[in-house]
Amino acid sequence: MMFFFSFPTLVVVLVWLPIVMPFTIILTDSGTPSALVDAPQTGFSMNKNGARTNPREQAAVYEIMKATGNGWATDIPDVCRGRWHGIECMPDKDEVYHVVSLSFGALSDDTAFPTCDQKRSFISPAITKLPHLRTLFFYRCFSYNPQPIPTFLGQLGPTLQTLVLRENGHVGPIPTELGNLTSLKVLDLHKNKLNGSIPVSFKRLTHLKSMDLSVNRLTGQIPGLNNPGLSILDLNQNLLTGYIPPSIANCPSLLKMDLSRNHLSGPIPDEIGYLRNLVLLDLSYNQLLGPLPSALGKLGALQALILKGNPMDSTMITGNWFDGLKDLMILILSDTSLHGPIPESLGLLPSLRVIHLDRNKLNGSIPTSFLELKGLSELRLNDNQLTGQVPFVRETVWKMGQKLRLYNNTGLCYDPQNGLDDDIDSLVISGISYCETSRSTSIPTTMHLSNGLGHKSIFEWRSSAQICSTSIGLQVLLLMMLLLGNLM
Ligand SMILES: *[C@@H]1O[C@H](CO)[C@@H](O)[C@H](O)[C@H]1NC(C)=O
Ligand SMILES: *[C@@H]1O[C@H](CO)[C@@H](O)[C@H](O)[C@H]1NC(C)=O
Ligand SMILES: *[C@@H]1O[C@H](CO)[C@@H](O)[C@H](O)[C@H]1NC(C)=O
Ligand SMILES: *[C@@H]1O[C@H](CO)[C@@H](O)[C@H](O)[C@H]1NC(C)=O
Repeated sequence: MMFFFSFPTLVVVLVWLPIVMPFTIILTDSGTPSALVDAPQTGFSMNKNGARTNPREQAAVYEIMKATGNGWATDIPDVCRGRWHGIECMPDKDEVYHVVSLSFGALSDDTAFPTCDQKRSFISPAITKLPHLRTLFFYRCFSYNPQPIPTFLGQLGPTLQTLVLRENGHVGPIPTELGNLTSLKVLDLHKNKLNGSIPVSFKRLTHLKSMDLSVNRLTGQIPGLNNPGLSILDLNQNLLTGYIPPSIANCPSLLKMDLSRNHLSGPIPDEIGYLRNLVLLDLSYNQLLGPLPSALGKLGALQALILKGNPMDSTMITGNWFDGLKDLMILILSDTSLHGPIPESLGLLPSLRVIHLDRNKLNGSIPTSFLELKGLSELRLNDNQLTGQVPFVRETVWKMGQKLRLYNNTGLCYDPQNGLDDDIDSLVISGISYCETSRSTSIPTTMHLSNGLGHKSIFEWRSSAQICSTSIGLQVLLLMMLLLGNLM
């Protein structure tokens, strides 16, 4: 569980599970000027002697607390001076405290907001009597009393900046009225059971920095976007259909766009090229079609490109569009019907650490340029039609261990003179045996010299003529690898 929006600094940890390599993005929140005169940025720590909570707001807080099973709060004579975690207040120039933030739910051991009675809790309409409220946060509050997101939240109007209703078991549609929250910066409805479509009214949320609607049951198309400050767009694990909207061009501040595990179709729009700050792009497990737009090459800040599990229809990794992806660390193109050779220039991206090109129809040989990838820690090329000599030296193979997957490429072989000898009984070499040609010293070693354009050179012709034989023992190992692969 992570807590990722403590103002004034918004720290976002983008964790991509199978790889122990979290991204940390720190967004500094410029912060809009306070609506209250002379108010400090956080009122909770502000102890103004003599200041009293506004009585109407105090009554509202009692109602809201009772509705979540926190009746104890009514014993606190002045809620803004009661100093429990989860309430923040600010004094105005007349020494009257106003409630600016309310939070519920045990986030972590450090952050103990009042917990909710999950069987009975509800959001009290008294919320609308807090005209200064900027942050409203409910985490795991209504799970066993499933209820829709109340439409009256829209009445909080342009004051509310952060609305978090995370893992609350909310059902039904996202109310159109949330489009009235025109100053909203953070909207987090992660992991509920929301259905219906994303309200068109969201295009009024022009100040959004982070929108997380992931893990719900949202249907329909992604509406037109118009959020120039949007940094995080996470719609993963919904039932969204239609195309990726070209209006993503209106969100040039995006750092993370995760639309994975939906039913999105059509090609990746060229407008993707406008997202020059994008660090993580995950479009995996959709129905997207090829070809890969060359506009992807304009994403100079990209660190992770994940397109796994899209039909893509016979796409070649052609041209040199990815040459500009100097910061790319993670490239996941498994199971995308890629065919043709792996371009030699891929090995020239200096930051690459993880390459998954498995379960495609790639042919030709493994680029020798991969030897230059000093940070490479994971390479999956299994289940392709690759041929020729495995270029890696013994140390590389040993270092990567099971993170080097080459099985089910019947044309691959290795050269014992390369240091990969029989005694390297690593699983990684399973199914791959000596190159016939390298047994004889009179025949020159057939190095991979493909130019990446698929032209047949004499060298390639020779590599494909190499015969690789698989021993029974290695076949057993291959089978084990395949089973392992299915489990992971
Ligand atoms: C909020 O939005 C709805 C529809 O989006 C609208 O009918 C309503 O008048 C708006 N205002 C308030 C205060 O809820
Ligand atoms: C949303 O789910 C509710 C049940 O929770 C159902 O009654 C309703 O028809 C669904 N609406 C849509 C648009 O699927
Ligand atoms: C690779 O496959 C393509 C068809 O997808 C074919 O045209 C090409 O000749 C093949 N190249 C090699 C080296 O086998
Ligand atoms: C080997 O890889 C091909 C894809 O190139 C795949 O179709 C085939 O099922 C794989 N074979 C096994 C035994 O998994």
